[in-house]
Amino acid sequence: MPPPRVSDMLAWIDGSVLPLRDARIPVNDHGFLYGDSVYETVRTFQGELFRLSDHFRRLRTTARGLRIPIEWSDSQLAGWVEELRGHLPVGEHYIRLLVTRGPGEFSYAPDPSQKPTLMILGGPFQATAREVLEKGLVAVTVGIPRSVPNPRNPGLKTGNLLNSRLAYFEAIERGADEALLLTRSGHLAEGSSSNLFLILPGEVLATPSIESEILEGVTRTVLLKLAREVGLEVREEELSAECLVQAEEAFLSSTSRSVAPLRSIDGRELGCPGPVTRRLMDGFIRLAGGL
Ligand SMILES: Cc1ncc(COP(=O)(O)O)c(C=O)c1O
Repeated sequence: MPPPRVSDMLAWIDGSVLPLRDARIPVNDHGFLYGDSVYETVRTFQGELFRLSDHFRRLRTTARGLRIPIEWSDSQLAGWVEELRGHLPVGEHYIRLLVTRGPGEFSYAPDPSQKPTLMILGGPFQATAREVLEKGLVAVTVGIPRSVPNPRNPGLKTGNLLNSRLAYFEAIERGADEALLLTRSGHLAEGSSSNLFLILPGEVLATPSIESEILEGVTRTVLLKLAREVGLEVREEELSAECLVQAEEAFLSSTSRSVAPLRSIDGRELGCPGPVTRRLMDGFIRLAGGL
């Protein structure tokens, strides 16, 4: 299921909780002016936030990469997330943490007086039913590369998402549900907002390595561990686009869709969900309490 509707969401800013549609940031916030922000999306399973500390760790790694100072501790952040959740209806929750460089001058020059802005946005989360997920998504490889020629590090989860958005547009225009982006050297990278897994002959689970211009997804890490535990051969490496033709099954992973099987890639039909994907879906449900 996509994120909750804005009309159902609340925002925590500076210690106040208010309807998201009433939340405001100054137009000179560098998050708005320069896409200079970092974010994390977290969700609950059976009321518990899934892998919150992994999300905090990635938020800090990205912020360090952008040199945005985060002075709040994990327990402060977690406390504010809980404060916001206290205002949401009981049930599953979707949470987005967003840190921008904060309001400043129209300049890239470092400004010690500039203070980052923290926003925690949240709303009710309705997970996609397994039967719906199992119908599978249609994916196409797109011309937009994962990284621009002089890239920021694609492993950082920043607010600078134009390539992903344009790739998604291209996929939708071609009648697909999701885009598969390639690296600048033509290897497989990932979906516009998801990681890609292929099942190659011999029950080999293959996924582009973190050097392949991908974001190291929290769900990806969980699934790789799970796959090794259930005895699958796992390959994390640079994958050529030809692997798509050899794949017997494929799926995407992300916080909001957990494991999303693909029913076709570039018009080639795949087992959906095939036996290995199904096993990983079952394993994920056992571990997380849902999909
Ligand atoms: C580009 C990209 N890759 C992968 C993912 C999946 O990451 P996670 O499993 O942490 O949600 C996301 C999530 O937003 C993403 O934007």
